[in-house]
Amino acid sequence: MGKILIVDDEKNVLSSFKKVFSQEGHTIVAAGNAEEGLSCAQKDAFDLLIMDIRMPGISGLEAFSRFKEIDSKMPIIIMTAYGTTETAIEAMQKGAFDYVLKPFEVLKMKELIEKALAASRIMKTEVSFDTNEQADGERIIGFSSPMQEIYKTIGQVASSDVTVFLRGESGTGKELIARAIYSHSNRKNKPFLVINSAAIPETLLESELFGYEKGAFTDARERRIGKLEQCNGGTIFLDEIGDMPVSIQTKILRVLEDKSFERLGGNKTITVDVRLITATNKNLETLIKEGKFREDLYYRLNVVTVKLPPLRERKDDIPQLVEYFLNKYNKELKKEFAKMSPEALAILEQYDWPGNVRELENVIKKALLFAKGNVLLSENILLQEKTPEKQKGQVAHLQELLAGLVKKGLASRSSGLYKDVIEEVERTLILETLKQVNGNQSEAVKILGISRPTLKDKIDKFGLRKVISLQES
Ligand SMILES: Nc1ncnc2c1ncn2[C@@H]1O[C@H](COP(=O)(O)OP(=O)(O)OP(=O)(O)O)[C@@H](O)[C@H]1O
Ligand SMILES: [Mg+2]
Repeated sequence: MGKILIVDDEKNVLSSFKKVFSQEGHTIVAAGNAEEGLSCAQKDAFDLLIMDIRMPGISGLEAFSRFKEIDSKMPIIIMTAYGTTETAIEAMQKGAFDYVLKPFEVLKMKELIEKALAASRIMKTEVSFDTNEQADGERIIGFSSPMQEIYKTIGQVASSDVTVFLRGESGTGKELIARAIYSHSNRKNKPFLVINSAAIPETLLESELFGYEKGAFTDARERRIGKLEQCNGGTIFLDEIGDMPVSIQTKILRVLEDKSFERLGGNKTITVDVRLITATNKNLETLIKEGKFREDLYYRLNVVTVKLPPLRERKDDIPQLVEYFLNKYNKELKKEFAKMSPEALAILEQYDWPGNVRELENVIKKALLFAKGNVLLSENILLQEKTPEKQKGQVAHLQELLAGLVKKGLASRSSGLYKDVIEEVERTLILETLKQVNGNQSEAVKILGISRPTLKDKIDKFGLRKVISLQES
């Protein structure tokens, strides 16, 4: 849901756009020319601007620059007709979010709007270390000593242009810290873009970052400006850099060293001024040994490294985090203020949180969704895994069981004990799961974390069809 300003001199474009996208839940303001659009943007803040690049009156590029001056963080999508893409490409070099050809396809436009609104949200939501609960935006919670160390480091480096490398398990807050650094940097009024190497296929990742020239490959009908160029003057967050292919690592190393690169299929060297923040939850040292990460890039990144502690190493922060998320989701879910019972809090404090803060946040959100009344009870706390105590019990039980099997194997002078035991464990696990989900294979697949064909194979291998039909009848 966003507030979108659309500027076009074609009345029918404005009206059809308004019709389609207000239905999507967006608030649409339409302006018939650049001057009118500019005065709208001056009076009011928008999450996104969509504008035709060729209108009567002031030139498209001129209008573009003036919109940028009014709100440098508002993403701008350019609409352009065939034959005028040169100007659109130029606008992208100046930081436009993207361009579309007119007449636009609704589905494509929808997708692009979602992407732009997400980027806008990230850029415009300030992340603070403020303890003041009234503070706007998001906050980083935690007063434990490892967190204090982190605040100190960030304080030292945020305002300089130094590259910061964020490490830590999944869900420890790397992206949040990256955004906090941006919020506190001298580039806070310039763009901030996120590129996630794990989420983009290799070939696309390269053109996303560096762009390409017309004819660089079969589909390259026009020059394309990459994110590095688009984000000139701003900050790029290279998330999951451990998943970046080595060939692209080489190019990133060069960007770090002399701020330059070439577009794919081009030989003109492009120079950019971007600050890089990088993050990974992978063990890069291992990846280096496996030849999957460049050692020289590793040293280059490792200048200022911020290691985010897993939540289990800063359990002191749990009560404060709980309160923060309770507040957040009470508001979001429009709940009456719900409090945590002491017993429920005790459970949260004991748990080891393999999924870190993200897992805690999800557990609280779920608890609020299902709680009746305004106090969260222990029974509302649904943890993914068994509590450590229960787990220990299970391990002990399994140990006993296996010890028994080994004894039997010794007595019978078995020569295939490994295979026998693994098969027995597998058979029992699948049998028990099928029993407990009443033969529901979809549920069994989910709990076990195996694919449906694998489950079918196992059922046949161990002759468990009977169990399913018994449970189903
Ligand atoms: N200290 C914190 N205070 C408040 N919220 C936090 C804190 N740390 C993390 N969060 C929240 O937890 C969630 C996960 O954090 P984030 O996405 O930054 O993790 P991450 O380290 O990038 O994980 P991954 O490696 O899986 O990408 C987010 O919703 C974030 O806002
Ligand atoms: Mg992340």
